[in-house]
Amino acid sequence: MAAHAAVPPIMGWSSWNTYRVDISDSLIMRQADAMVELGLDSAGYRYVNIDDGYSGGRDMSTGRLTFHPKRFPHGLKPVVDHIHRLGLKAGIYSDAGANTCGNFWDNDSLGRNTGLYGHDADDCRMLFGELGFDFIKVDFCGGDPKQNTQHLQLDPQQRYREIRRAIDATGRTDVRMNVCRWDYPGTWVRDVADSWRTTSDISCSWESVKSIIAENLYLSAYAGDGHHNDMDMLEVGRSLTPEEDRTHMGIWCMMASPLLIGCDLTRLRPESLRLLKNHDLIALNQDSAGMQTYVTKADRGTYILVRDLTDKNGTERAVAFYNPTDSARVMWISLYDISLAGLVKVRDLMEQTDCDDLTGGLLIAEVPAHGTKIYRLKADRRLFRTKYEAETAFLPTYQELENPIATGTAYYREDARCSGGMCAAQLGGTQHNCLIWENIIVPADGFYDLAVSCLSDTPTHFFLTGNGMGHELTTTGSSDVQRVTARVYLHAGPNRITIFNHTAPIPDIDCMEIRL
Ligand code: GLA
Repeated sequence: MAAHAAVPPIMGWSSWNTYRVDISDSLIMRQADAMVELGLDSAGYRYVNIDDGYSGGRDMSTGRLTFHPKRFPHGLKPVVDHIHRLGLKAGIYSDAGANTCGNFWDNDSLGRNTGLYGHDADDCRMLFGELGFDFIKVDFCGGDPKQNTQHLQLDPQQRYREIRRAIDATGRTDVRMNVCRWDYPGTWVRDVADSWRTTSDISCSWESVKSIIAENLYLSAYAGDGHHNDMDMLEVGRSLTPEEDRTHMGIWCMMASPLLIGCDLTRLRPESLRLLKNHDLIALNQDSAGMQTYVTKADRGTYILVRDLTDKNGTERAVAFYNPTDSARVMWISLYDISLAGLVKVRDLMEQTDCDDLTGGLLIAEVPAHGTKIYRLKADRRLFRTKYEAETAFLPTYQELENPIATGTAYYREDARCSGGMCAAQLGGTQHNCLIWENIIVPADGFYDLAVSCLSDTPTHFFLTGNGMGHELTTTGSSDVQRVTARVYLHAGPNRITIFNHTAPIPDIDCMEIRL
């Protein structure tokens, strides 16, 4: 299948992790210079992002945004121009509400009333028209009553849509926007942003990195085609162990997250620079198939992740063995289980070395505690996948801002009875609340048995459609996983399968298997 040229995640540097609000024009320009001196720009890092701390309040009479008199005495224009002269791109920060987060959490008194709220058009004209910024991260403390002194409560979807319209109204078509709402906000976010934060703020600790990875394991259906789950700025090069730094960088690349370096570039250790410039990992992050990885095997706290490279459903794939546990583990997967056959070339992306070729059998490695191995595989042949987990399916109502039980939206939940230990829950009842597998590939046109595994205590009906044909499925009611089968006509190549019931709840869905 032809590659889809998806816009890759942004790469660059951002001021927040090391400096919080203590930034200045000279500091930002020094970091931009260092990015070029260290050759990080040629490795792909192009954006220099000024995070919170630059604002100086608003002009009382005009409402115009001003800049911090001590930190940016000459304003932002000389800084943006300096960044652009280096051939780089410049990024900025704001808030969807009235206050920035630094105003509330870091006592940054001049950040009061400097968010976009009430000023979308003027601020966007200034930031992208006059000053020439190329990227904006839009935070939400000012819209969350617990994080702003005015107790302003704003609707995120409405605010972010308004802001996107204001950016577009400047005439700039190249401004990339990041939504910073600290949880996956909902499927609407794809219309407004290139990337969106999926978790609360990263900190420089293994616990933080591990929990962010855990929160992103089941979000692959929401990324792709130029849209990215943002796992937050990198802590690489600060105080994690070398093994943890490698896992952090490697999994951010595997997950196609934006890569924004967060350390002081003028004091980067050689091994951190080598890791950040690892061109094999960067190629994985920026891969043209534009997909995020998904879990293909979960085993006693370890995870094997897989992802297509270059072409969707082609013969190149990346596989990561991720061991967040506190002891070394031997991990393995059969090539059959990742749908590759024939002679398979294997490259170790962390070590940047070629391994012995494989012909069938297992890919196997000992992975240290907190460690990750990542391989790029190129096979003679791609096999057809016969099993699709519900935790890799797209749930149109999925969101993490509100408790799904309260809002009646679908979510993924752990259940030891299910394959992969996960299922999709609380589906059905409305037209929108369905489950979609977008990319079900079969070798040839024809009828296939699709066996849906589900959990249903009581007899239930629900429906499955493929290629416009509906099929009713009926469960009998059992405390164990049940299989119900529909015989469906599928076309060679990708098919969309939807599971729905517009009027009644659907059993929790575990997975679907295709029988030829
Ligand atoms: C929030 C964001 C952080 C950072 C700070 C700035 O906490 O999530 O990434 O931008 O605000 O105050």
